[in-house]
Amino acid sequence: MKIRLRKKANVRVLPNGQPTLYDYFLDIQNSCWMAWKWVVPDYVHDPEKKFSEILVPTIDTCRTTWLLKLQNDIGRPVVLVGETGTSKTAVVQDFLRQLPSENYLQLNVNFSSRTTSLDVQRNIESAVEKRTKDTYGPPIGKKLIVFIDDLNMPQVDEYGTQQPIALLKLFFERGGLYERGKELFWKNIRDTCFLAAMGKAGGGRNEVDPRFVSMFSVFNLTFPSDETVVHIYRSILAGHALTLSEEIQEAVSIVITMTLELYKAVVIELPPTPSKFHYIFNLRDLSRIIAGMCQLHKNFFQTTSQFIRVWRNEFSRVICDRLINAEDQALMIEKIKKQVETHFENKPEVVEFTMRDPLLFGDYRNACAGEDEPRLYEDLLDYDAIYFLFQEILDEYGERYGKIGLVNDNFVALTIDPD
Ligand SMILES: Nc1ncnc2c1ncn2[C@@H]1O[C@H](COP(=O)(O)OP(=O)(O)OP(=O)(O)O)[C@@H](O)[C@H]1O
Ligand SMILES: [Mg+2]
Repeated sequence: MKIRLRKKANVRVLPNGQPTLYDYFLDIQNSCWMAWKWVVPDYVHDPEKKFSEILVPTIDTCRTTWLLKLQNDIGRPVVLVGETGTSKTAVVQDFLRQLPSENYLQLNVNFSSRTTSLDVQRNIESAVEKRTKDTYGPPIGKKLIVFIDDLNMPQVDEYGTQQPIALLKLFFERGGLYERGKELFWKNIRDTCFLAAMGKAGGGRNEVDPRFVSMFSVFNLTFPSDETVVHIYRSILAGHALTLSEEIQEAVSIVITMTLELYKAVVIELPPTPSKFHYIFNLRDLSRIIAGMCQLHKNFFQTTSQFIRVWRNEFSRVICDRLINAEDQALMIEKIKKQVETHFENKPEVVEFTMRDPLLFGDYRNACAGEDEPRLYEDLLDYDAIYFLFQEILDEYGERYGKIGLVNDNFVALTIDPD
């Protein structure tokens, strides 16, 4: 096969190697067009990092972060708009984590329908200090960067105004606020920059005053492509699987493929309806499934069968437990079974082991041990085993802290009764 060398278009021409111009950015230093996909850094898994802080670099995250940086450097506020689960919050949080703390002071504010303009004012005031008689700001030499999540949540009052937003509009236009005490004197607030994120209007989110939005640079984030979703979760799970056996590492791709296929099936076949209004599934659910899989420890998970079985548990826990009737449940169980059968055609023992009921996982074997003792996730096998485990925990608890009168055998039986 002939290998074509990557030739970069210079600034006199428009690049045409990628589908759209948005796939490029202008590298001013080298006077050429660079495709985003050439510059996406490889993901390096850090087991110490909390799952919620992981952001796998993708074309979308690099592009948005670049835009955020560009706008932040010139002090222009930015608002990211997009459907739920399009990683608005994740990207901004990651951007904020990268900012040097010696130059920036950060303030995170989550708006809700109950947020008042006074809440906003108090929040901002708590982050600034007095510089002169009527001027306030972050400590000299620092910039205050305020991130407002869910900007369009505040309630619309009877005059059609979202009060927190009206207050922010005043802040943007005049660079300050009125003191809310008796005097009502004006306070200039310096060195402050805003970032915001909001979903589309509807479902508790309101239309925001367009005059306010016009003060921001507005960027719309779209749902990542399948390829990107696979890349994100495969990178994380493969990173975690490095601590597990080779057999499991090989099954990572299959698990991700099955998860995505089933997720797509759920979205299409189980749409939200008035009686099932909570059937809303998005990237956050995929994150929860993979977060569950990242709890696995090599002492309890060594074989492909165990790995696929725990995947079934995580998928059921996050997706199937939300389904409200036996019919929908049965549909999903059937789909899970089909996926496992297709991917493990030659290994009936994996299918058999995965689909065996009951499906019970937990991390409470050493529930009575101290805080420092790690709690490891494991397959609890069946109700009998759990009954004895609960008994043991109860006895141990009784020995340490005295018997608990309320808990008796019936309670234990109730707790583990599937119906
Ligand atoms: N590149 C990525 N790497 C790792 N996880 C990601 C990435 N992109 C998105 N996620 C995950 O996807 C989920 C949804 O992202 P996020 O919470 O940022 O969505 P959102 O756009 O803020 O949604 P909402 O409008 O509901 O607030 C999160 O769990 C986040 O961790
Ligand atoms: Mg969000």
